[in-house]
Amino acid sequence: GRVHYYDFVLKEANFTRLCSTKSMLVVNDSFPGPTIRVQKGDTVYVNVQNQGDYGVTIHWHGVHQPRNPWSDGPEYITQCPIEPGANFTYEVIFSDEEGTLWWHAHSDWTRSSVHGAIVVMPLNETGFPFPEPNGEEIIILGSWYVDDDVNEVVAEALEDGSDTPRSDCYTINGEPGDFFACSNETTHRWQVEYGKTYLLRMVNAAMNAELYFAIAEHSLIVVGMDGSYVKPIVTDFIMICPGQTMDMLVTANQSHGRFYMAARQYDSVRPDVTDYDTSNVTAILEYKGDYTPPAQPIFPSKLPTYEDLMSAVYFSSRIKSLANSDHPIDVPVNITTRMYITAEMNTITFVNDTGDERSGLGSSLNNVSWVNPSTDVLLAYYRNKSGLYTEDFPDFPPSLFDFVAEDLPDSIAATTQGTRVKVLEYNEEVEIVFQGTNVFDASEDHPMHMHGYSFYIVGTGFGNFDNETDPKEYNLLDPPKVNTVSLPKKGWVAIRFKASNPGVWFWHCHLDRHLSWGMNTVMIVKDGGTPETSIREPPSYMPPCNYASKIKLR
Ligand code: C2O
Ligand code: CU
Repeated sequence: GRVHYYDFVLKEANFTRLCSTKSMLVVNDSFPGPTIRVQKGDTVYVNVQNQGDYGVTIHWHGVHQPRNPWSDGPEYITQCPIEPGANFTYEVIFSDEEGTLWWHAHSDWTRSSVHGAIVVMPLNETGFPFPEPNGEEIIILGSWYVDDDVNEVVAEALEDGSDTPRSDCYTINGEPGDFFACSNETTHRWQVEYGKTYLLRMVNAAMNAELYFAIAEHSLIVVGMDGSYVKPIVTDFIMICPGQTMDMLVTANQSHGRFYMAARQYDSVRPDVTDYDTSNVTAILEYKGDYTPPAQPIFPSKLPTYEDLMSAVYFSSRIKSLANSDHPIDVPVNITTRMYITAEMNTITFVNDTGDERSGLGSSLNNVSWVNPSTDVLLAYYRNKSGLYTEDFPDFPPSLFDFVAEDLPDSIAATTQGTRVKVLEYNEEVEIVFQGTNVFDASEDHPMHMHGYSFYIVGTGFGNFDNETDPKEYNLLDPPKVNTVSLPKKGWVAIRFKASNPGVWFWHCHLDRHLSWGMNTVMIVKDGGTPETSIREPPSYMPPCNYASKIKLR
């Protein structure tokens, strides 16, 4: 592979949306930030200069970083924050990924303004597993907060145990679009030529929302997800959860005109709330040529409504790996570690920054609400420093309760806080069943994301996972390979991977409110015994751990 160098200068800049101007932290003065473009197997050095006011880190979402957790990014997991005025060079090692991925800040809620796309092109000799597209369009879906400093608001909410803020709108390439005040001058436009086929590369960088997306009068052919190819599926809409990336072919088959591309929230939480804000974030697909465009672009009639749960489930169920000789799959079949992990909302009692005991909203995995240590887990592990974490992430036997019942016993809501990690031997074949729960009648989808790996989704369903019958239905032939999976509301999902990447890897829900509340854990994969199967040497210039970032996660 080749080597590329990027400079990321993080500093505050002014942006005006929804009729008000605020200053926010961005990379190289742009929102969304710059695109990193590589070919499969390349290495990228990104020199991050922090000219902002708070500590920050950057994560390369979906890049497996073989044996190189030092550059993975999540604060207090693999590094401490880069201090204001300091810089840090990430070494981003691409291996088997191909397609669209992304990068984002992994400290506080800074990722709302600090994110961008990563494009991984196939090798010249292999090319795409579909006809070479005529062009490309990158669409990043995001969240906009009118508040001057979203981190400030989140910090206060976490301090007193209240709910975190909702965004004021979603954005397409940084713009809310025509349906919002003071927005139609700057609505994002994508110009296409009749007869051409484009590769649409999409990132859901929204903070807390799964989103539906559609383009009026144009079908989408999904060909890739999370940096792996999938069997092409033709669809009128997609559902994309936070953290996910999707590659689609779009053929400009209308001779002329202007069409809305629109996204709206798919809300598994409150499907029965009728006064929900259904405002649509829009951009315009516009045909080049000599014609008088219609005053009003056409809106996508096939965009599901926010409460349409079945469309989301149906769409996700259609995604399968390519699984052919050029793109074979390697699903583990001799499972050595089975885990059953529940995801739940809790009320937790915690001591806040001022030393007061409070109780408030929390969330957890297997009833452990994650707490960041003061020095990153990776350094503690690598240097054998004790006292910063414990290796006792709990195991739950499957079907201990009816987890999706309306009246769950109180005992299941009794969450403790901890920095409890799961340790795996090198090359273990792992199956994890994530189980959604209805603790406090608060059931919703959780986009579970794993760092350092992609994994196969071998099964999913509603209700409680049944250890007897459900594994018999697993798809081991062409399961999709992803880094983020939406654990369905009151349902379960089973995943498999081989623990072939030694390191310290974060797992978490990619809804930032749940991440902040502790729906996280860490997996340590041990070295394999040879230099080629062990974590690399750390760079000598890791950021020191004496500077706190803005929000102290509980
Ligand atoms: Cu998109 Cu922990 O990351
Ligand atoms: Cu969640």
